[in-house]
Amino acid sequence: MRFEVITIFPEVFSGWLSKGILAKAIKKGLFEVRVHNLRDFTLDKHHQVDDRPFGGGEGMVLKPEPIFRAVEAVRCSEKAEIVLLTPQGEKFDWKIAEEFSQCPQIILICGRYEGVDERVSEYLATREMSIGDFVLTGGELAAMVIIDAVSRLIPGVIGKEEAVKKESFFQHYFDYPQYTRPRTFKGYPVPDVLLSGNHAKIEKWRRKKALEKTWQKRPELIKAKVLSPEEKQLLDEIIKERKEK
Ligand code: ADE
Repeated sequence: MRFEVITIFPEVFSGWLSKGILAKAIKKGLFEVRVHNLRDFTLDKHHQVDDRPFGGGEGMVLKPEPIFRAVEAVRCSEKAEIVLLTPQGEKFDWKIAEEFSQCPQIILICGRYEGVDERVSEYLATREMSIGDFVLTGGELAAMVIIDAVSRLIPGVIGKEEAVKKESFFQHYFDYPQYTRPRTFKGYPVPDVLLSGNHAKIEKWRRKKALEKTWQKRPELIKAKVLSPEEKQLLDEIIKERKEK
């Protein structure tokens, strides 16, 4: 799997990609990120990537030719997704992340806030993607968000413990609460069950807490899901306990 980023600020990716889990996974060859400077795909001597809008108005618009040229140069799969990052796009979520993780090549075109020539979204991009209902100054942070969320779904990228969570019950829920030493901090104790050494009990507690947290914070995620008998039972217990409180 390979990500290709097309941007006018290629340098902002290097620090981020050189640290942590993603850097290790890239070193292991589990996926690749290639960052391309849009200016390298211009043909004029000033390497101009933007121009004034037809019809007048403020600001500059990213020109179509360098973007088309960049995509044509880096595309190496019929199945590549060509993604324009824009606040008008489809909202990125875990389902799209899963879909992208199966894709051999994802080309991320970072727009600028003033605009991108409409022919890019009309005739070049296979998808337009937004990371939320807010406007960033450019698509670079959105590209990082997508690369981060997608790459952790590639087998081997995250550690064993995380992988177990991903495959199992926990995939559709927020993380269960985690604690580390000290056992008591400022008088606040760690739940007894986690110190019990009883693995079955701990597992059940974690499942229940993951479900409870999700139900409290984002009930619509649970309502949209067909619950297994185990999940139904845990949810009944949670509701009952909350009524008793
Ligand atoms: N570019 C500017 N705002 C954006 C957003 N919310 N998502 C993706 N790309 C963007």
